[in-house]
Amino acid sequence: MQTAEIRRRFLEHFATRGHTVVPSASLVSPDPSLLFTVAGMVPFIPYLTGREPAPFPRATSVQKCVRTLDIEEVGKTTRHGTFFQMNGNFSFGDYFKDGAIQHAWELLTGSVADGGLGFDPERLWVTVYLDDDEAADAWHRIAGLPVERIQRLGKKDNYWHTGAAGPGGPCSEIYYDRGPEFGPEGGPLVDTAGDRFLEIWNLVFMQYELTDVRSKEEFTVVGELPNKNIDTGMGLERVAFLLQGVDNMYEIDEVAPVLRRAAELAGVAYGKDHEADVRLRVVADHVRSGLMLIGDGITPGNEGRGYILRRLLRRAVRSMKLLGVEDAALPELLPVSRDAMSASYPELATDFDRISSVAYAEEEAFRRTLTSGTALFDTAVAQAKKAGTPALSGEQAFSLHDTYGFPIDVTLEMAAEQGVTVDEEGFRALMTEQRDRARADARAKRTGSVDVLAYRRLLAEHGPTDWQAYETLRTDSRVLGVVTEGDDDAAPRPVGPGEITRVVLDRTPFYAESGGQVADAGILTWDGGRAEVIDVQRPVKGLVAHQVRILEGELREGAELTAEVDREWRLSACQAHSGTHVVHAALRQVLGPQALQSGSYNRPGYLRLDFAWQGALTAQQRTDIEDVANAAVRADHAVSASWMTLPEAREFGALALFGETYGEQVRVVEIGGPWSRELCGGTHVRGSAQIGTLALTGESSVGSGSRRVEAVVGLEGFRYLARERDLVRQLAELLKTPQDGLVERVGGMLSRLRDVDRELAELRSRQNLAAAGELAAGARDVGGVAVVTGAPSGLGGGDLRTLALDVRGRLGDRPAVVLLASESGGKVALVAALNPAALAQGLSANDVLKAAAGPVGGRGGGKADVAQGGGTDAAGIPDALQAGEQAVAAATGR
Ligand code: SER
Repeated sequence: MQTAEIRRRFLEHFATRGHTVVPSASLVSPDPSLLFTVAGMVPFIPYLTGREPAPFPRATSVQKCVRTLDIEEVGKTTRHGTFFQMNGNFSFGDYFKDGAIQHAWELLTGSVADGGLGFDPERLWVTVYLDDDEAADAWHRIAGLPVERIQRLGKKDNYWHTGAAGPGGPCSEIYYDRGPEFGPEGGPLVDTAGDRFLEIWNLVFMQYELTDVRSKEEFTVVGELPNKNIDTGMGLERVAFLLQGVDNMYEIDEVAPVLRRAAELAGVAYGKDHEADVRLRVVADHVRSGLMLIGDGITPGNEGRGYILRRLLRRAVRSMKLLGVEDAALPELLPVSRDAMSASYPELATDFDRISSVAYAEEEAFRRTLTSGTALFDTAVAQAKKAGTPALSGEQAFSLHDTYGFPIDVTLEMAAEQGVTVDEEGFRALMTEQRDRARADARAKRTGSVDVLAYRRLLAEHGPTDWQAYETLRTDSRVLGVVTEGDDDAAPRPVGPGEITRVVLDRTPFYAESGGQVADAGILTWDGGRAEVIDVQRPVKGLVAHQVRILEGELREGAELTAEVDREWRLSACQAHSGTHVVHAALRQVLGPQALQSGSYNRPGYLRLDFAWQGALTAQQRTDIEDVANAAVRADHAVSASWMTLPEAREFGALALFGETYGEQVRVVEIGGPWSRELCGGTHVRGSAQIGTLALTGESSVGSGSRRVEAVVGLEGFRYLARERDLVRQLAELLKTPQDGLVERVGGMLSRLRDVDRELAELRSRQNLAAAGELAAGARDVGGVAVVTGAPSGLGGGDLRTLALDVRGRLGDRPAVVLLASESGGKVALVAALNPAALAQGLSANDVLKAAAGPVGGRGGGKADVAQGGGTDAAGIPDALQAGEQAVAAATGR
């Protein structure tokens, strides 16, 4: 039974039993205490705890979940997947234990013809919590289960909570007996490995409020919840692998296609070699999880969710590389995963351009450094082993992270594979140091590292700067102080051309960076000199400091000058800042008032705005936001600013943002009166039409529950659209297609390309087949061993390996060694393969390969039966083959 069908039957079963079908929530957990949605109940936590009244007494869902605690187990067992789907039914103070047991039993054992799942009742077992006689009795009474198949287990197995403070309770788990070939008799109580008795459904009797949750078994029960609730979770992948008659969750219809494609790319057969199988399963699991996480708006990064996504994608890429695949893997695998998943999640297909570009960019970034990073790692490990202290230093792990982009967990795993430890503490200390340095740098950039004392002295002497940014773009000013880094501020000196310094004026029209708006640009001119203003800050409250580069003449304290803001710059800055308010109002109009801004940045022509929101915006929402914003621009709303006290501003409905500290009197900027009212100290256009064009250019996640939109405005907005138009024109010309036929044309080309790729692959495999016969016929006897060496041209590692295995297969049962070398794309691939009879003579593919690698300037390794490697010097191929053959001769004693 297909996974999508199991899911459909589940929802229908509960829908016909009075449950409201609720769509899956995002993988970004709606509960802020959890990184990801880890169970079907997460979106219902407010109803389970009674914090909010449940809108329905019963609900059912198939929830997307991610759990990454067991990431190292992926691929090794039958059960661990980082992404999985949990089918659940929920009762909020409606039915309790009896109802939950009855519903579950009917679905599991109901016949397939009647819409059930058709499990054999004789193979089902259950467990209940130690003292839960009520549940044990219900299983016997309702399901007719014999008492010996109702077992009791403690908190570790039969008590459920999310791992954080919240609702919890005893639970009852349903197990399926896979049969004696998977383990001993005796039920889940005995089968601690969990291979024979597979848990498929957990019914949680959620009736307590927990706090101080320290582990699965250690927590404090605060009291009873207002209601006795039911929360159940059936592992969709587990049920699927049982019903599909396969061995594990990696082989079900939604995952196996990726696994098969990966095996094909690697030229290995699944099920032949344990190590390769584990890698293939890791790839299949991680590619799907990456697809689903990016689908829900997560992007790879170095913290939190972004880090986990990065780790999954990079593990997948590394596993493919270990399987011998040199080319980019995700462009081959991600579309396969999409095709397997989009029956249940159609948005994966519609949003695939965005999803794939995020994933491919991440693979590209990692691939650029993977080889050099691996080399560094190998050297470090070899040194560590030689030094007799099998540990990598914190610096080495840090350099792998910082320069080569190896997530620390990937380094830890690679080290464990080599039996080497890593000084993790040292690594973390270096990370903290780097973070602190970055923060200090950012601070220094703002105020300069000049001691603020110099500014305090100027403020005490002259009072606050007469700040005219709202009134004018030009003032006549006097230089109160010239503060140059590194100078003793007691002895100020004039500064000359090329020098950069900070200038304090008695009066200025320059806007100092604040509230997300960047500083003004402009010019200071005085008799005999000019300076360009490159930054403006307020190093101490009330005082404006201009960072300037002297262009001509000398600037000294006491000079009279003209300070003038660049008119174009300011207009563009006003467009961007007013544009930010317009986008904020549009966001709240389209998404609702909860889409509140949490930070913003704007500079001439560009703006970005972060706001509270779960999950990615849909294409429709983006279009709506752009439409509302541009309608407000066209309406030419008046823009005005007024001063009032903070309570008055609140009364007035102005939005106060992100904990800025506002003075006594606050400034409220309105666009179209109540349409947009915000507390703001920035500069703005006079009417919204002045904003000109407003085009959204991006939307992304910036961490937990927070999204970012980016836009271009004014002339930049126009240029952006013009560039897009030009691109479409160029494409249309190139493809000789009218513009509105482009999509169809490119689609057609892509599908032709796929056909050609397929034909090429077939052709290649036919050619290889032919070559295999010829090579095998040329076998020579070396000391009683049939040796084939050869140098077919143009084959990469994967193809060469396939060919070598094919030749080996044709040499029969006599001892046989195959050594092939091939040049392709400036690189040399080498493969050595032996058959069991050769192995029995003490020969090793690894030794043959090592001997051959030298002459082509390369290296490689592998196992005794097949070894693979490469080099760069094609001229050495004949010597390499001879060296390999000599190694065989030496080993056979000839
Ligand atoms: N919350 C329980 C679990 O995740 C049942 O849904 O197992």
